[in-house]
Amino acid sequence: MRIMSEKKSLLSKAAYRIEGQPMFKVLENVQKLEKKGEHIIHFEIGDPDFNTPNHIIEAAYSSMKNGETHYTNSMGLFDFRETVSEATAFSRGFSPSIDQVLVTPGANIIIYLTVKCLVNPGEEVIIPDPGFPTYYSVLKLCGVSPIRVPLREENKFRMNPEDIKNAITPKTRLIIINSPSNPTGSVMTSKEMDEIYGIAEKNGIYLLSDEIYSRMIYEEEAKFYSPSNNDFCKKLTIVANGFSKAFAMTGWRLGVAIGPVDVIEKMGLLVQTLVSCTPPFIQRAGIAAIKGDQTEIRNMMEIYKKRRDVIVDGLNSIPGISCLRSGGAFYVFPNITQTGMSSDEFANYILDEAKVAILPGTNFGNYGEGYVRLTYATSIENIKIGIERIRNAVEKL
Ligand SMILES: Cc1ncc(COP(=O)(O)O)c(C=O)c1O
Repeated sequence: MRIMSEKKSLLSKAAYRIEGQPMFKVLENVQKLEKKGEHIIHFEIGDPDFNTPNHIIEAAYSSMKNGETHYTNSMGLFDFRETVSEATAFSRGFSPSIDQVLVTPGANIIIYLTVKCLVNPGEEVIIPDPGFPTYYSVLKLCGVSPIRVPLREENKFRMNPEDIKNAITPKTRLIIINSPSNPTGSVMTSKEMDEIYGIAEKNGIYLLSDEIYSRMIYEEEAKFYSPSNNDFCKKLTIVANGFSKAFAMTGWRLGVAIGPVDVIEKMGLLVQTLVSCTPPFIQRAGIAAIKGDQTEIRNMMEIYKKRRDVIVDGLNSIPGISCLRSGGAFYVFPNITQTGMSSDEFANYILDEAKVAILPGTNFGNYGEGYVRLTYATSIENIKIGIERIRNAVEKL
């Protein structure tokens, strides 16, 4: 026993603060049930059910065949960063210099790189609540205080610039925004984004805009707008983007950060310290994703839109559940307060009773209580089965 407790105390204080991502724990529980032979409908993890388009796979394959299987520049291949700059000109109206572009193994790590390079322990970062769990776990690991700004259903789960203004203190160093949002699918307006940039500028605070769902917008209902439009990522804005979602490339681990040169330089050195570089053949796949035929990507979005409508209409047809129609990403965030259960109770009950895996809103922050998150990165057939199972379980309450 003595040896055990001595061993425990050998871990660093930071190690005790590491929390990880709660959805991976849920996935583990669900897989255990599946191992027992249960048939589970998966609405829990935001991983596209589509295969990565073939031309992207081919590009990685020929890159490997051509010998690009070694270390490369920690900041990323010149060709890839140039392609990102061209794509940014097309999508956001400005061409960042190559020195403003950093390639990373996935977008997730950009959150850590940004916080580590911009915020000291004891300082504060404003984050959306509910928000992507990595924001919380990175801040906790770095000894930084999260200042939660609520995403309210009455405001269609968009961040209110006034709330951000009120949350600023002399310790605030960074504001994180995420549009389209995980877990709500909400999309900020250009007016709100510009107002938030104005607040950041007035207070000399950096802005991390997590734009991983920027290509996943249902155009008739919402428009994507980046706050980088204000400073072209030269002063305060750091854009985090990635290939996981829109290109169905979650397993490839490819992300891109765009920001002020001095910030990106330090983030690049941190990439070098932690992972050396992002694999070159993965970056070639990224070039193919951006430059190649976009038909498959557009088709995926059309399919997601149909699925979204089926899941939203299905959820709204269940007494006790109400669900907004989200304008982007592939998530819905229904209100379940009328069922009389807490988010955790409801998610556990639905898994046990209906064999449907969903996430409690509280996985995404305090203001997620009363909600659950479902992803529609699964077929319409599965969505229909899942909705009927949830309906039957709710009717038994
Ligand atoms: C809002 C948000 N940011 C970042 C990420 C990280 O994406 P990846 O590391 O797969 O590029 C995710 C993944 O779910 C996300 O939802």
